[in-house]
Amino acid sequence: MRVTVNDTREMKEKGEKIVMLTAYDYSTARIVDGVGVPLILVGDSLGMVMLGYENTTRVTMEEMLHHTRAVVRGTEHAMVIGDMPFMTYHGSVEDAMRNAARFVQEAGAQAIKLEGGVTVAEKVRRVVECGIPVMGHIGLTPQSVHQLGGHRVQGRAPEAARRLLEDARALEEAGAFSVVLESVPAPLAALITERAGIPTIGIASGPGCDGQVQIINDMLGSFTDFVPRHAKQYVKLADIMAAALTEYSNEVKAGTFPTKKHSFSMDESVLAEL
Ligand code: KIV
Repeated sequence: MRVTVNDTREMKEKGEKIVMLTAYDYSTARIVDGVGVPLILVGDSLGMVMLGYENTTRVTMEEMLHHTRAVVRGTEHAMVIGDMPFMTYHGSVEDAMRNAARFVQEAGAQAIKLEGGVTVAEKVRRVVECGIPVMGHIGLTPQSVHQLGGHRVQGRAPEAARRLLEDARALEEAGAFSVVLESVPAPLAALITERAGIPTIGIASGPGCDGQVQIINDMLGSFTDFVPRHAKQYVKLADIMAAALTEYSNEVKAGTFPTKKHSFSMDESVLAEL
């Protein structure tokens, strides 16, 4: 049985912290699902950590569907949330509904995420009415990086803080089942969490949220372009990988790999005939 929106609601009610991680491929999704992480986001962050784009605005619907399918195939228990890419829900309500439905119908996701608050509330309402659970995303919304003038903390000034409270309320009223708070000052994130009837999932927003999300490549240390201040590296996979790859290269060059153990034999008589 997969995790459902009701489970996330119950977790908030019980005060159980909600763990969310990104994953973008089958093998990683198997591991994340295997350790019991309940929410897996196929984030458009894949544009940066998987595809090498400068930011998330270049990611296409086809790229998102491709990776979401792989993650769905690698999971049995987690709710898989597909991230709607830039400009796939900014036009008409019909566009938003059709693209959201593609994540469910063509990729097998159980929910979608989109960025924005008050401005996308009507679209959220209509997608939810179609039976598709929606996770909101407010604060630093990376698809608006050019408008925001960079990846900056949001909501420090009184008016901006009030807008974030309104955004969270608008998403809840529109039927979103949860909301990501990204780069929101910790005390404000805690206040939004206290007032919200739906779970808040924080990233760079302090410990007061109902749950936390991290980009898996940041926490595993496999993305080496930069380490965001909010990320904790639990391991430096890049170093471990580099050491293993160097050992492999050296063994191939020295002729010590492959050995008999890694090779297949054949009947000597067949070889003699040749
Ligand atoms: O794309 C992503 O991975 C995200 C998370 C940072 C929440 O939106």
